[in-house]
Amino acid sequence: MKHRLAVVGCGNMGRAVVRGLLREGWAEPQQIIATNPNPEKTQALAAELGVDVSNDNSRAVREAEVVLLGVKPQIIKSALKDLRGRVGPDQLVLSIAAGISTRFIEYYTESTPVVRAMPNLSVTVGMGATAVCPGTHCTPDHLQVATDIFESVGTVERVSERLMDAVTGLSGTGPMYVFHVLEALGDAGVKMGLPRDVATRLAMQTVRGSARLVQESGEHPAELRDSVTSPGGTAITALHVLRKEAFSAILMDAVEAATRRSAELGE
Ligand SMILES: NC(=O)c1ccc[n+]([C@@H]2O[C@H](COP(=O)([O-])OP(=O)(O)OC[C@H]3O[C@@H](n4cnc5c(N)ncnc54)[C@H](OP(=O)(O)O)[C@@H]3O)[C@@H](O)[C@H]2O)c1
Repeated sequence: MKHRLAVVGCGNMGRAVVRGLLREGWAEPQQIIATNPNPEKTQALAAELGVDVSNDNSRAVREAEVVLLGVKPQIIKSALKDLRGRVGPDQLVLSIAAGISTRFIEYYTESTPVVRAMPNLSVTVGMGATAVCPGTHCTPDHLQVATDIFESVGTVERVSERLMDAVTGLSGTGPMYVFHVLEALGDAGVKMGLPRDVATRLAMQTVRGSARLVQESGEHPAELRDSVTSPGGTAITALHVLRKEAFSAILMDAVEAATRRSAELGE
């Protein structure tokens, strides 16, 4: 049977996407083939996901409709060499490697359509935020295939390629910022006398509920913040500290640094 999807380098992100696609019925397990150079790891992948597996990238991609490049940016060159001459215009190469441009990929894949995507770790729980952009030979249909794939594990934004490093700095790296905030809020609760598990659950639900409120109300976050900041209350007292310590500027600096690093990875 012709494989609909080959996942070259099926690690954390690759596995999350495969799980989402199987859950959504995009493909049957036997229409997906996942690769890893290590036979023990491919055996584990087969047991975990029920998909076909291979230790040979070149063979795995030959019969696939879509090739998802799930390897780290540092080793993408060697994976692309395995694809050279083995993929063609009837296939789609979908790369999730941070910082790696479609032009770089097209050097190896030639006339094969390429879509570059930047998902985030939340695809693991079906709540990812992914941005996609088209390469030179990509049609709206190819972009739609990529969109369908990432919508199986969250939401998708279409952007131009020049914005992909900014996406990487914001949402690609984003779960780390939120984990850090959750840890800090948990610590703060403990410092104020709450048991650790209670503090963590309260912090988690607060972040989840606040994001949902912004999403469902359609209001700007600043409007919602103003609505909870009553005169002489706790919120304005806490906001004074955040402003004094330049909390917003720290987050902006962090996103800017991650965006720069993404660009460096592609050099
Ligand atoms: N993690 C994130 O939050 C995140 C977010 C957005 C985008 N990304 C991008 O997603 C990609 C994958 O990240 P990840 O976190 O899923 O990494 P990962 O878990 O390390 O997955 C990469 C997989 O590729 C395998 N591999 C290594 N060399 C290979 C080769 N020559 N051929 C085939 N497979 C090979 C690795 O096997 P071994 O384990 O044996 O080395 C591993 O299973 C990266 O390019 C990253 O930039 C990641």
